[in-house]
Amino acid sequence: MSKAITDSLKKPSEAFMRPVRSFVLRQGRLTKGQQLALDELWPVYGIPHGDSPLNMEQLFKNPGSVTLEIGFGDGVSLASMAKASPDTNFIGIEVHRPGVGRLLHLIQEYGLNNVRVMDEDAVEIIRRRIPETSLDRVQLFFPDPWHKKRHNKRRIVQPDFVSLIASRLKPSGVFHLATDWEPYAQHMAVVMEAHEQFVSLAETPFSPRPAERPVTKFENRGLKLGHGVWDLLYKKVCAGS
Ligand SMILES: C[S@@+](CC[C@H](N)C(=O)[O-])C[C@H]1O[C@@H](n2cnc3c(N)ncnc32)[C@H](O)[C@@H]1O
Repeated sequence: MSKAITDSLKKPSEAFMRPVRSFVLRQGRLTKGQQLALDELWPVYGIPHGDSPLNMEQLFKNPGSVTLEIGFGDGVSLASMAKASPDTNFIGIEVHRPGVGRLLHLIQEYGLNNVRVMDEDAVEIIRRRIPETSLDRVQLFFPDPWHKKRHNKRRIVQPDFVSLIASRLKPSGVFHLATDWEPYAQHMAVVMEAHEQFVSLAETPFSPRPAERPVTKFENRGLKLGHGVWDLLYKKVCAGS
């Protein structure tokens, strides 16, 4: 066998390498209410799995702006934002099934018709199903901080991910990030400042928390531990402008 072939056998092909994911699936126990919501409400508010790009006009009854939230957790803050802004359409993506069930339940309880839900890896979904320049806003609140240095590569905020978000936002669309973990806040600031398609809405990388962002479950947890909170709001600009 030639050396080239033996070398290629040693290297795992990309097709067999597992992607670095920003989450670990710990499904936990579903409450009866969450299971019922998944069974009965997923067909109404869930976006079926598939490969076809989403058509925002067909997805929502109102032609309003579209906000995408990545990793909505238990969905309480997303549901309350959607309730407070009936003219804005929301797509929530979350891999944790109990959280998906909880949000479905809240959508029904609040009578919302401006929220649709997806339950797969947001990075893959955005790449595959969210059309370019189709979003007005993307929100990423308290993403898993992956504290240990050897796990930092699992943080969702990386230059390639930020480029992906830029490609899906409309011109002047906003990417809103928040975290309670200072080293992650610094990392976010470095990545966002280095990106030529984003400028901070404040004079520094960090903005005051906008009144419309509710305090989230993980934010509350951080506050109880004495953590600070950092919001970053960045507007998409044309490269070079
Ligand atoms: C630390 S929790 C924060 C939840 C919520 N935003 C809050 O502030 O309470 C991060 C959430 O992001 C979800 N998540 C992480 N990576 C994800 C991905 N690639 N796609 C979808 N959800 C993801 C996790 O399942 C988890 O529920």
